[in-house]
Amino acid sequence: MSNTTFTMIKPDATGKSYTGAILDRIVKAGFSIKAMKWTKLTKEQAGAFYAVHKERPFYGELVEFMSSGPIVAAILEKENAVADFRKLIGATNPAQADEGTIRKEFAASVGENAVHGSDSDENAAIEGNFFFSELERF
Ligand code: CMP
Repeated sequence: MSNTTFTMIKPDATGKSYTGAILDRIVKAGFSIKAMKWTKLTKEQAGAFYAVHKERPFYGELVEFMSSGPIVAAILEKENAVADFRKLIGATNPAQADEGTIRKEFAASVGENAVHGSDSDENAAIEGNFFFSELERF
């Protein structure tokens, strides 16, 4: 099992100035930051990042939204990182997210849900490699 996961703080959350509060929650939950950047995806980049969802009805909306404003991309390290991070962020739909989770506190809807977290070790590696070279990880 890998000890890293990948996250993005999404444009809804950066736009509401939740970036600092969300990073604080992540660090206080025991994750350390291996790599991090503040950036903005083009539509092409957002489309490529979410290519696995290309056939889903919400793909167009997802690509528009994820390229609509700045994001924070980060690789996080912790034992059991993928599963523990998904627990910390809560269900994809904030209406179903548990009390105390990041999405419960900061997310507005299933589309604008404040944060992304990798769903497997394999995807964590692919997603981290999408944003970061080896030289950007410490
Ligand atoms: P994320 O974990 O970043 O991975 C895929 C994203 O698709 C997901 O978070 C949601 O933000 C988004 N998504 C999933 N279901 C829907 C939906 N029904 N409508 C809009 N966006 C969705």
